[in-house]
Amino acid sequence: MKELIEVKEGLVRLKLPPQALKPLGERKPKPPVFYNPEAVLNRDVAVLVVRTLSKAAGEGLRVCDALAGCGVRGLRFLAEGLGVKEAVLNDLNPDAVRFIQLNTEINGLSGRVEIYNLDARVLLLERKVRLQGFDFVDIDPFGSPASFVQSAVLSLKPGGVLAATATDTAPLSGTYPRVCLRRYWARPLKTEYYPEVAVRILLGFIARNCTTVDRGLEPILVHRTTQYIRVYARVHRGVKTAEETMNKMGYLNHCFRCLHRFFVDLDTPPGGKCPNCGDRLSWAGPLWMGRIFDADFCHKLREEYITSHLSSKRELGRLIEAIDAESRGAATYYVTDRVSSLLKASPPAKNIIIENLRKMGYTATPTHFDGKGFRTDAPIRDIIMVFKKTSGSSKPTP
Ligand SMILES: C[S@@+](CC[C@H](N)C(=O)[O-])C[C@H]1O[C@@H](n2cnc3c(N)ncnc32)[C@H](O)[C@@H]1O
Repeated sequence: MKELIEVKEGLVRLKLPPQALKPLGERKPKPPVFYNPEAVLNRDVAVLVVRTLSKAAGEGLRVCDALAGCGVRGLRFLAEGLGVKEAVLNDLNPDAVRFIQLNTEINGLSGRVEIYNLDARVLLLERKVRLQGFDFVDIDPFGSPASFVQSAVLSLKPGGVLAATATDTAPLSGTYPRVCLRRYWARPLKTEYYPEVAVRILLGFIARNCTTVDRGLEPILVHRTTQYIRVYARVHRGVKTAEETMNKMGYLNHCFRCLHRFFVDLDTPPGGKCPNCGDRLSWAGPLWMGRIFDADFCHKLREEYITSHLSSKRELGRLIEAIDAESRGAATYYVTDRVSSLLKASPPAKNIIIENLRKMGYTATPTHFDGKGFRTDAPIRDIIMVFKKTSGSSKPTP
């Protein structure tokens, strides 16, 4: 392996071919191993999650980076994850595996790593590999994680955490509804809060994979950028938890005329007439209707960020803070521009809207999903009233 470049990410050093460091669109010829410097934020959050889980567990975690590329993620879990006892790193590409081996050696981590060159699905179902199960499994593929979900669910210890990245945001967000239906068996919807709908479709897909094998799902954290969505969820064992998970599945009804939206359970057909304005409802799903954040976990994550070696990272800090603030917020968010477009008025400042909603006794928080977004349990009529008061509009509303 000649002419390698050394880079540092977090507390690990990486040897990589020079092409692997070029911008994604300029990598010709294709490098033998994949590394994406733009995914550092994604990996930083994962490291903080593993640290937070390690502290709560009190004993060494066994983690798996099933699609490891050059190994950076799994090696960072070992070097920065505090209580990670051992990591299984795997990639289907034999060249990638050579880089995983090299990077493991140069970081002095060989004693705590098992390296495999298998299809991730085979690895995760292999009895010898999973032993008593993993505490944390990371699925970070090109595109959709759908085909890896069931084997990852089966490989976890009771209460273990599944982390999954989806970069196929166009299907999940409603640009290609047929592709979303094919991959996730759910209908997406292009609303102004489409990234949350995308997250709920992915969680719903994971939840259904859990219930088919008598497992239950408990999301602890989700986040999004323009390139991907990312979910973290605990997987519990037993029929009772699988039943509880079923009760958190349903459909989202959305009215494009007045912006009213609400969930219905699996026994209630979606669609029909909007109870607020009488227009025809559009719908998405089946999807996850339950909470997408564990507020206590998100708070601990923030504390972990503040005291960790990653505390100087501004973008990471902003994200973790925003998630902590919204983690107790209502399901789905509104976007100021969209609400204002109903009133044909210019959008007021989001913070004033939030303040006024709180004064009326509603919960209201910003959201990391959208800089102009806010979560609230206020009904759309009262949201409109607050917008009208703030912007002085007298236009009749739907
Ligand atoms: C997006 S990259 C992983 C990046 C890595 N997790 C990181 O954080 O840098 C996806 C990797 O999955 C590997 N891969 C693709 N299909 C696979 C499969 N079925 N099983 C295991 N690895 C696979 C590819 O070779 C590639 O290295």
